[in-house]
Amino acid sequence: MTDLHEHAARLAPLALKDLAKSAPAPRLSAAGWTADVSRHFVDAATQDALVGYGQDAGLVSSIAQLFRGEIVNYSEDRPALHWALRMPDEDASDEIKQVRQSVQTALDFAEQLRTSRKLGTAARPFKSILHIGIGGSDFGPRLIQDAFSLERDRDIEVRFCANVDPQDFDRAVDGLSPQNTLVIGVSKSFGTEETLYNLDKAKTWLQGDIGEDWPQHLALITANRHRAEAWLEEPSNQIFDMPLSVGGRFSLWSAASLVCMLSLGPDLFRAFLAGANEMDQHVRTARMHDNMAARLALLDYWNTTIRGKRMRVLLAYANRLRFLPTYLQQLEMESNGKSTSPQGAALNIDTAPALWGGEGSIGQHSYHQWLHQGTQTPSAEFVLALDDSSERDGTRSLVAHALAQAEVLANGRSLEEIKHDEPELPDYVARQKVHPGGRPSTLLVTQQFDAHRLGALIALYEHRTYLAGILWGINSFDQWGVERGKVMAGAINDALTGATEVSDPVSAYWIDRFGKRFR
Ligand code: F6P
Repeated sequence: MTDLHEHAARLAPLALKDLAKSAPAPRLSAAGWTADVSRHFVDAATQDALVGYGQDAGLVSSIAQLFRGEIVNYSEDRPALHWALRMPDEDASDEIKQVRQSVQTALDFAEQLRTSRKLGTAARPFKSILHIGIGGSDFGPRLIQDAFSLERDRDIEVRFCANVDPQDFDRAVDGLSPQNTLVIGVSKSFGTEETLYNLDKAKTWLQGDIGEDWPQHLALITANRHRAEAWLEEPSNQIFDMPLSVGGRFSLWSAASLVCMLSLGPDLFRAFLAGANEMDQHVRTARMHDNMAARLALLDYWNTTIRGKRMRVLLAYANRLRFLPTYLQQLEMESNGKSTSPQGAALNIDTAPALWGGEGSIGQHSYHQWLHQGTQTPSAEFVLALDDSSERDGTRSLVAHALAQAEVLANGRSLEEIKHDEPELPDYVARQKVHPGGRPSTLLVTQQFDAHRLGALIALYEHRTYLAGILWGINSFDQWGVERGKVMAGAINDALTGATEVSDPVSAYWIDRFGKRFR
């Protein structure tokens, strides 16, 4: 079989425009989305070789393993059950029904509070929510809430607070009253410094106004109920479970998104779950050539590990998806930003690319210069999410920009074309205008964006991330790389108070420079 690197060398000099004309299975459809993968350095022979590599790497068996609830998170000896949170009960085993019950409990609480609009035994009017959480306990709920902010309940003000920087809390509560606020604390571990710091601030904020009733204005979502009750110092019927076998960055389907259930309503959230389940069914059953998650994972492997492109740029051509790049950075880079196999062997290949990007067309007035004429040629990914509720002319312009950007990235503009169009240009200026092209891209398009389609999109990226991890030989479900920094922060925090010293010369310099400020 021709080595994949030989395929890459053979295709590199070719024009994407020509490859697109004969691209094999160029467009894939699932759960209301279409993925156009025609503008990549892939032809029929390469496509077959890639699919063959994926089959040899065990993509098919890995999909089955995931959906059978088998151990796939080897270092923590757990299954990954994020898909179970959105599985309809009629299809679920008793174990899966138990996982799903945690979602139903939160939905029931949301339904009751939206009806009563009263907080605690004093029945204070419920008017606002302060969501406290970070990472997977923040990005997902924040993305959903922002995407459907026009569908929110106008009588409930929603704020988010994540950072240990005190400014975040102070700005989040600005204008809110403890009398009318439900504080939602989300932490799977119930051990994250930033979240515990902000929960302590929220406790003081509530106590200062409503005294001993403060726990009635608090809902906690965690996989560690014991720690939550210890922090509360009393039992509460407002502690909701996050299943231990659902990773933090895979938890937006769980009670972690209680804020969205309350603000956007249980029906919208159920549609979100249903969209994800529809994508699950596609990924479980589609043959490899047609499997959207598998094909995108193979392209990630192809562009990064074989073609050596160590970035991927995510361009969300939808204002409602402006937080999608940030959300996906955690999902993909915390899952696959690794260099050691589950067996402890060094992986001597390039694994996950650096994922960055932003909102289109905004980025065209910023980093698109770099994309078109810079010296690096990463693959780009356009997510175009349309719906009939948007004004037609503006939406048409947005679509035109997305398609134009993808076309120019791929086809460029040659010196000959420039000189033909602008013959009066001095040669040295004409050369500044050359767009090299040769930048591959994927288009992900839906024409009826709604909660169902957002659920399907995020489920697609979850499965793609898992399958790309299989191709790279990675456990996508742990995150040991985030632990050391936290431990060191504790040591440096102590040194900043003057209690201890540190050995690193640069840290020691700055601890000395800050002097008495923190003592
Ligand atoms: O430190 C990284 C991380 O553990 C993420 O994986 C997680 O989403 C985030 O911190 C928050 O963790 P928790 O939900 O346990 O507070």
